Amino acid sequence: MTKCIAFHSYKGGTGKTTISANFSALLAKKGYNVYLLDLDVYAPSLGSYFDIHEPKKWINDFLLGNASVDDVCIDITKRISGDIKGTLNVGFANSSKEEIYKLEGNVSRQSSQMQLLRNFILLREELFVKKNADFVIIDTSPGIRYWSINTLAVSDIVILTLKMGDLDIEGTKKMAQEIYGAFTKFGTLCYLLLNRGPGYCSIPEFQHNPVNITEKHKGGGSGNSRHYSSLEDLSSTIDIGIISEIPCYCDIQFSTKEFLTGLEYPEHPFTLKLANLATKLETNETYSQQQ
Ligand SMILES: Nc1ncnc2c1ncn2[C@@H]1O[C@H](COP(=O)(O)OP(=O)(O)O)[C@@H](O)[C@H]1O
Ligand SMILES: [Mg+2]
Repeated sequence: MTKCIAFHSYKGGTGKTTISANFSALLAKKGYNVYLLDLDVYAPSLGSYFDIHEPKKWINDFLLGNASVDDVCIDITKRISGDIKGTLNVGFANSSKEEIYKLEGNVSRQSSQMQLLRNFILLREELFVKKNADFVIIDTSPGIRYWSINTLAVSDIVILTLKMGDLDIEGTKKMAQEIYGAFTKFGTLCYLLLNRGPGYCSIPEFQHNPVNITEKHKGGGSGNSRHYSSLEDLSSTIDIGIISEIPCYCDIQFSTKEFLTGLEYPEHPFTLKLANLATKLETNETYSQQQ
């Protein structure tokens, strides 16, 4: 059982980095060898998330053929708190202007787009075959950019992350129809993850678009989880099931420094939501039911 899972979105700020980092940490805690890659090459943030700013080598170096997988992936298991039974390894991206330019494949023949993509596929293969990765988790760039598409192409599972109240439902729909459709034809599994839904700080009487609490959410999880009809509509229009709904938690949104809520607070509802997501995705079975 090996899986490459990408967290993608149409726009930024939907929670890809927060969720991919915490999700990876929880899988490592369970005993898996997890490789978390920052492929948000245009605006990477795992470096500041884990406070690692000068890795020996960057993912960029591997893609350009100038580094090995061991150079690029840093084992941070001992740096994170908790009883971690597996390992957490992270590959960081260099966002300097010249590096981004090189990754666009326009600089020389050696870094042609085809060669870069080949190296990216090689990175995935080496992680699974040489490094015995159980999971490769990829934090992507939002939208339809060269490296987002490449990431979707190498992934077994794509999780389209949406922020509740997102104004860009139409853009998301279009992207999913045009791009995801092509990948699902070849067996990629795609799911919707609705993040930052009405949470603990919302007062029902003053909610602008009152929505029905569906039966399945009554008494479960946050107790506040609701469906926006437009999001349900999105799910059915693009035919992607909702795999998880995560409320907005003020302590996460307003924390002054990013940290792994999933490890620091095992009983936090955010942690429980991600643990539930891990259970769904760790099995070999195709997850086909809605939450
Ligand atoms: N469920 C959540 N509740 C509250 N804040 C969240 C939640 N998920 C993410 N955030 C916050 O939203 C902001 C954007 O998240 P981030 O992971 O950086 O998004 P992206 O990587 O998609 O741009 C961050 O400040 C993060 O702490
Ligand atoms: Mg991010």
